[in-house]
Amino acid sequence: MARKSFYVLMFLMLGTCLLAQGRRAPVRLNIIPEPVSVKVNDGKFPITRSTLIYAEDESSMLTAQYLSEYMGKHYGYPLSVIKKKCPSSDVIILKNENNDKTKGGYRLTSTASKVEIVGNDASGVFYGVQTFIQMLPTRAGVLPNVQCAVIDDYPRFEYRGMHLDVVRHFFPIEYVKRFIDYLAYHKFNYFHWHLTDDQGWRIEMKSHPRLTQVGAYRDGEILGLYPGKYTELPYGGYYTQEEAREVVEYAAARHITVIPEIDIPGHCMAVLATYPQFSTTPDEEKYCARTWGIYNKHNNVLSPTPEVFAFLDDVFGELCDIFPSQYIHVGGDECAKKWWKESPVAQQFIKDNGLKDENELQSYFIRHVQKTLVKKGKTLVGWNEILEGGLAPDAVVMSWQGTRGGITAARAGHRVIMTPSSHSYYNNMQSRHQVEVTHKGYVPLDKVYNYEIIPAELTEKEAQMIIGAQACMWTEYFPSVRKLENALFPRVSALSENVWSPREKKNWNRFLAALVYHHDRYDMWGIRYSPYFFQMYDVVREDH
Ligand code: ACM
Repeated sequence: MARKSFYVLMFLMLGTCLLAQGRRAPVRLNIIPEPVSVKVNDGKFPITRSTLIYAEDESSMLTAQYLSEYMGKHYGYPLSVIKKKCPSSDVIILKNENNDKTKGGYRLTSTASKVEIVGNDASGVFYGVQTFIQMLPTRAGVLPNVQCAVIDDYPRFEYRGMHLDVVRHFFPIEYVKRFIDYLAYHKFNYFHWHLTDDQGWRIEMKSHPRLTQVGAYRDGEILGLYPGKYTELPYGGYYTQEEAREVVEYAAARHITVIPEIDIPGHCMAVLATYPQFSTTPDEEKYCARTWGIYNKHNNVLSPTPEVFAFLDDVFGELCDIFPSQYIHVGGDECAKKWWKESPVAQQFIKDNGLKDENELQSYFIRHVQKTLVKKGKTLVGWNEILEGGLAPDAVVMSWQGTRGGITAARAGHRVIMTPSSHSYYNNMQSRHQVEVTHKGYVPLDKVYNYEIIPAELTEKEAQMIIGAQACMWTEYFPSVRKLENALFPRVSALSENVWSPREKKNWNRFLAALVYHHDRYDMWGIRYSPYFFQMYDVVREDH
């Protein structure tokens, strides 16, 4: 923190020097993600206990209440919300114009007497409020006021997502909500909830209660880097459907859609621990995984039997009923097909159904689930391996093994979400000097920031299939909130500019300068960000 104070001092001294020369340092708003257009005017809008929030319509009412609560929590006084008769001054006006312009767009106009936030839709009003929040001071004791300005803004991509694996390590519902708050502050609109894997099944299924009675618990895990040191501490947890619905509602009030993932046909040890008969090797001992990795040693794939397909119909059907999201994620990654190769049942199924090989069997599973989803009016999303063996139209592909899968899928006319592990897996190292155990890839802040989501090899038409990007947080090495948030921030803030700000607006040095202020916001929000940023900042200072 001493180092941070030093930089703030440097900024202040620079400002003083400029003033002494008769020039005023330009006022920067330091909003992350950087808006499309910012025009700073003279003056400030002071917020006092008597300032009102006026919600012009029903959809703005929720956001007005959100802002009121935020002011109460962080500045000590919730502002009163009104919906009749807008005062002429000392007011923050929220208005949903419901127009045809880009979803999520807004105009924020602050003058000395009032602030007006006009959204293209309800989410635009909410994002305008997020910008407003970032214009507020972050120091204790500084009275809340905002700079006079006119800000026009809208998102670059329609899909702006963050993923959280709650299987390898479990995070309770209260934390999941906080995670969603952090996404909202950065104008993300999708939360991808990775709910099942080899190490556990974390969502209650009324049709199959044993999934959480048995499959939500493991007998231990490893400590330290794989293969690590085995510890027998029992571990587990799951969300009830009621809790999941609570999260959906909480997220919706923040204009975030929750996409649930049930990972099939591989990564299924927790299913097989519960129902060994669903395995191609039912007689072998089954248990939830106690370590990490792809399971060539332990069978973790589903067998293609009528019972298994009926099971999938049940669980995906229930999932669709819990989660209103248009998108439902079916996983599809890293299926260890050797288990099908060695299985007489799987081989007979391949033959009987005229399939070419195990890739087409994987495709058969995905298409089967897709039928259930389509009946429920949903759209299937899967990791890029769902391309193997042919993919039904309409499926959305998440490209994680580099960008190749995304390029292939876009050219084949599929919508694509870019999430290449090289730039988007925050479970990797962010500093060469870090002491924490994480996965061994190297994904520092500048790499995240400078990642361009649209692959250069796509034509303009193909590029339209790239609907956005997301980062993933796999939690094998993240058993605590402290460690998790260290990995997330400030990388999530960098990603927010990639998915929101216009390409031509991105500027690494401007982003870093804004980040110095944003760290005060992290402190205020309670985010336990990584200290490695300051080392980054040293490098930048030396360079410029
Ligand atoms: C993945 O990282 N296996 C999607």
